Amino acid sequence: MSESSDSAAPPFWNQRYASGETPWTFQGIPATLRSFVRRTRTRGTVLIPGCGTDHEVLHFFRTAGFEVTAIDFSTVAIGQIKKALGNFDGKIIRGDFFKFDLQNRFDLIYERTFLCALHPRRWPNYAKRVARLLRPRGRLVGIFFYGTEPDPPPYPLSEARAAEIFSKYFRLIRDVKVSDSVAMFAGTERWQEWQLAALLR
Ligand SMILES: C[S@@+](CC[C@H](N)C(=O)[O-])C[C@H]1O[C@@H](n2cnc3c(N)ncnc32)[C@H](O)[C@@H]1O
Repeated sequence: MSESSDSAAPPFWNQRYASGETPWTFQGIPATLRSFVRRTRTRGTVLIPGCGTDHEVLHFFRTAGFEVTAIDFSTVAIGQIKKALGNFDGKIIRGDFFKFDLQNRFDLIYERTFLCALHPRRWPNYAKRVARLLRPRGRLVGIFFYGTEPDPPPYPLSEARAAEIFSKYFRLIRDVKVSDSVAMFAGTERWQEWQLAALLR
C-alpha cells in the first residue's frame, strides 16, 4: 500500500490509526482539561472535532455531565473509538468537520491536535466554522500547539497567527502553559479559552 501524504484526506489518518503510528495520542486526561471542568460550573453540550481515538476525553466529558458530540473523518479512528467506548451515551460521527450538518450549536468546543493537523490555509475556515457552531457566549477551549515543526503536520501556531484567525470572532480569556504534553509536543502546548465575542455575531 502506498503511503498517503495528504493530511487533508482520510487515507493519511486511516493509515496511521491502522498501523498504530499515533504519537499524538494522550493516554488519560490532560491536567488542564481536568482543571477547566473542575472550575466550570455550567455543563451543556460539547463538540470534539477531529476526535481521533481519544475515547478517554469523550468519556470524561460525559461523566462530568456534558452532552457529547464527536466527529472525525477517519473510518479507522471512528471504528476504534466506538469499540473502546462500547455503549456510549453520546454522538460519534464519521464525517468532515467542515461539511457535516451538525444541526445543533454547542456551548463548548474542545480542541486538541485537530487545528495543528490542518494546513494553515484552512485555519480561517476553522475559526469561522467553530464560531458558527457555538452558541452565544460559547467557548472554544483546549490545547494549542505553539512550537516549531520542520516537517508538518503538525502545523504550529504563533501568537500573531492566532490573533489573526481568532480575533474576528473570539476574545482570549485564559492562556496557560501545558506541562503534561506527550513527547512530540513537550514544552510547546498551551491551554487556551477563546470566548465567542457576542457583539460580533
Ligand atoms: C492528530 S489527530 C488528533 C486526534 C485527537 N484529537 C487526539 O487528540 O488524539 C487529527 C485528527 O483529525 C482528523 N481530521 C483531520 N481533518 C479532518 C476533517 N476535515 N474532518 C474531520 N476530522 C478530521 C483526523 O482523522 C485525525 O483523527
